[in-house]
Amino acid sequence: MIRKYRYGEPFETEAVTMEIGEEQGVPAYGEIDRADGFSFSYRMEPEDIVYGLGEANRGLNKRGFCYVSDCTDIPDHTEDQQSLYGAHNFIVISGRQCFGLFFDYPARMVFDIGYTDMERLTVSCERAELDLYVIEGKNAYDIVKQFRRLIGRSYIPPRFAFGFGQSRWGYKTMEDFRRVAEGYRKNGLPIDMLYMDIDYMQDYKDFTVQEENFPDFPAFVQEMREQGIRLIPIIDAGVKVEAGYSVYEEGVRQGYFCKREDGSDFVAAVWPGDTHFPDVLNREARQWFGDQYRFLTEQGIEGFWNDMNEPAIFYSSEGMEELKTVLRGYMEDTKEIPLWDLGAMVEGRANNPEDYKRFYHRVDGKRIRHDQVHNLYGYYMTRAADEAFRRIDPDRRFLLFSRSSYIGMHRYGGIWTGDNRSWWSHLLLNLKMLPSLNMCGFLYVGADLGGFGSDATRDLVLRWLALGVFTPLMRNHAALGTREQEAYQFGDTGDFRSILETRYRLLPYLYSEYMKAALQDDLYFKPLAFVYPEDGFAAGVEDQLMLGDEIMIAPVYMQNAGGRYVYLPEDMLFVRFQKDGRLSQELLTRGHHYVEVALNEVPLFIRKGRCIPLVKAARCVEELDTEHMECIGFPGASYTLYEDDGLHRDYENPKNYRSLTIQ
Ligand code: NOJ
Repeated sequence: MIRKYRYGEPFETEAVTMEIGEEQGVPAYGEIDRADGFSFSYRMEPEDIVYGLGEANRGLNKRGFCYVSDCTDIPDHTEDQQSLYGAHNFIVISGRQCFGLFFDYPARMVFDIGYTDMERLTVSCERAELDLYVIEGKNAYDIVKQFRRLIGRSYIPPRFAFGFGQSRWGYKTMEDFRRVAEGYRKNGLPIDMLYMDIDYMQDYKDFTVQEENFPDFPAFVQEMREQGIRLIPIIDAGVKVEAGYSVYEEGVRQGYFCKREDGSDFVAAVWPGDTHFPDVLNREARQWFGDQYRFLTEQGIEGFWNDMNEPAIFYSSEGMEELKTVLRGYMEDTKEIPLWDLGAMVEGRANNPEDYKRFYHRVDGKRIRHDQVHNLYGYYMTRAADEAFRRIDPDRRFLLFSRSSYIGMHRYGGIWTGDNRSWWSHLLLNLKMLPSLNMCGFLYVGADLGGFGSDATRDLVLRWLALGVFTPLMRNHAALGTREQEAYQFGDTGDFRSILETRYRLLPYLYSEYMKAALQDDLYFKPLAFVYPEDGFAAGVEDQLMLGDEIMIAPVYMQNAGGRYVYLPEDMLFVRFQKDGRLSQELLTRGHHYVEVALNEVPLFIRKGRCIPLVKAARCVEELDTEHMECIGFPGASYTLYEDDGLHRDYENPKNYRSLTIQ
């Protein structure tokens, strides 16, 4: 049962696709206060669990912290960060009373979940202009599924996007990419994608390719394809201000960029220096920006990652002027500038909330100040691309994911979780965030495996890849200047091969479960409590996840650990994918166990009475032999496999399902 309450005249975010009539009166749960902005308040029972918030810090149970939905370019995901890149305003309160809440509000919103008062949940925002959806159901899982139906089908990528991808900020030339491709191919390491970060562009200009480094780009795309590798370029939100650059000139001429109050185009400094932001909230401008992707699709490109679309601002011209005035003031007074003040002053220019009040969108003839719809920018940039792909080739799937997002964007693309670090704590954060992302509709998700910032160690990369085996987006990505962390950089590549090959051996199963989750508005990753609601212990487990209907995963996330403790809510088959394709299988009974997992192994647990298909590994997804599958699991069990051509949108065809039985 879903009820919709409208307050004020909210901006139409198009997060929700289902028609729901407006309810009169007040929600059955909590109290609403509109005296000063908007707030919803609810007294939590000690045993209540709060799920949701998608891309947010901390645990699966969100209690005990204050989270702020305010899409932010934040490279430090430390425990105290309240905002990350996404704004996913859906929560479920699960306890004596069980209900879900979706606050469809595109600006800054605060979720105080037992932070100020451990027993109080307060959700507040500055303006009482929003739609509140209240969802009732049997239990948390049922509520999540209803919510997923409310917001429409999740994005479905092409099948090759389930292969492994390598990325690094710093690959510049064809030679750099060839070297990486060779590193993988020579060592027999499977790979499907190489990601192109900003250096492939000419002076960081969107929809350009650096000509000296890529004299014949289509031929290079083809050369990589022949090795089974797709190139996936980055697209940034800001369009460089430069006379003669056609995207800039056309955008200015047509009035497609976000404007200041005085009608001039707003200028923000990002990688290329001064840029303008395309007004992707405006339908025409969105169509125009989306059509620019053709420049690359026409050269053979089949996938993209959209970056810096919070949108990130290093500084604005106004911000710089303010800084100069302050500095001038110091100099005129001939006062010493304390260094820490100077540092904070300069840093404070980046992603400054004041800048988001300095530019406007034009939507359906109305002018809207950016800060009032801030959380929609990444969503609409990604929507621009997806809508364009549907014009370019309506039946074809493109790979597309974004850094910033809002609920609704889950229909157009996936997300990666931004600039994490090569820290063990971030491996665990990655694991805990996965089901929350799924609850908010984001199924095609993944983190920078091995960590983006800081130097990775061999064991961290191996353990993180072993988690990445299960995430739909499996990509190793690292920042400029950090230690190289491609799978062939740490000596004995055999260990890495075992892990990457496990991904490919499991790929038909992972793809099948992804497709079922997408087509049935279900979860690919679930908390244990969703599957075993009667099991009191399962409710507290945050470092193990259910994947699809057959398996449970329990990655090792501590350095120097030769294994880990796991909790089994039922008897399960413990399977370890070992070096050189060996498999170890052991029946474990319900309860607690310590399991040993070597650095080059991938552990998983098959639920009682179930089985999963396996294939032989191959160098890329297209070369997997899916005619010859074996099943592992419990004797007599059968599995319904979803399979399609992986490239087109013929999802509903009953021929896409076939039944496999274990011998
Ligand atoms: C920020 C992104 O989060 C990161 O993945 C990328 O490498 C850099 N921008 C450079 O493009």
